[in-house]
Parts: sequence; C-alpha cells; structure tokens
Amino acid sequence: MAEAAYGLSINGEWRDVASEPHQSLLEVLREELRLTGTKVGCNEGECGSCTVLMDGKPVLACLILIGDAIGRDVLTIEGLSRGGQPHPLQQQMVDLGGIQCGYCTPGIIMSSYALLQKQPDPTGDDVRQAIAGNICRCTGYTKIIDAVRSAAAEVRGRS
Ligand code: FES
Ligand code: FES
Repeated sequence: MAEAAYGLSINGEWRDVASEPHQSLLEVLREELRLTGTKVGCNEGECGSCTVLMDGKPVLACLILIGDAIGRDVLTIEGLSRGGQPHPLQQQMVDLGGIQCGYCTPGIIMSSYALLQKQPDPTGDDVRQAIAGNICRCTGYTKIIDAVRSAAAEVRGRS
C-alpha cells in the first residue's frame, strides 16, 4: 500500500509523518517518531501498555489507525515532563516502588494522568477503576495505587 503524508499534533508539537494508512498510531509513534516510551504489549487492545491520551482521553494506540489521529491532540508519556523534570506521577512511581520491570508503567501513568485531570483527589477505588485496562504482571498494583495517590497530593499541593 502506498505511503501518505499525515500531520499530527503530538505532545503539543506539529509532526509530519509518512505512513501507510493501515498503520496504527502505536506503530507511527514508535517507528516513525521514535517515541518509544509508549510500549507494545499484546498489540490487540488487551493489555493497556500502549495507552496514550487523545483529546485528553485514554486510548489504546494499537487500535487507532493513523488517519483517525489527524486533528486530535495526542499526548504520550514523553509529553509529561516539564523542563527536564519528571511529572509527579513518574517520580512517585519510582519513589514508592510502583515499577518493577516497568513495561506497564507508561500506560498506567497515562491512564492515571487522565484521572487526575478530572479527579484531583482520587480514592484507591478511583485509581483501580482508571487503570482497570492496564495489566501489570509484576507489582500487585498496591504500590502503583499508592504512587498515584501520592502524586495527586503533590500536584494538589503545587496549585
Ligand atoms: S499493545 Fe495495545 S492494548 Fe496491548
Ligand atoms: S512493572 Fe512489570 S508489568 Fe508492571
């Protein structure tokens, strides 16, 4: 199939890519734009490791055809840091042991980031619900939930 040109808004920047129409947003992010923070797990919508935000809502990038990302604001894990500093969600995940192998972590952080935009003071159940589509094989989730709630408190303290 022939390549086509696509203009995408990624992490607040306009990016031009050449891609075949059947390619997924996940493939384009990782292979064309080298934004490899978004992970490939199942590649069929089951694991959540490819979660990014599109117009503020979590989506599975492996299930989004590249043409469906045109005109939408895409936010990836690379877009969360500010001035070289990690977002509190990233830092708390490290500090509180919410990361082991780390493969699920970018997706979990993106789902959690979307949660904090609408619920700045989430309960444990709020976090569990927000990350229900993100599979972690390592941590047992408890430390992840603690890290998200701790990051939420840090974000609230800054505002
Ligand atoms: S890689 Fe997209 S849901 Fe698993
Ligand atoms: S830290 Fe290994 S899958 Fe979650």
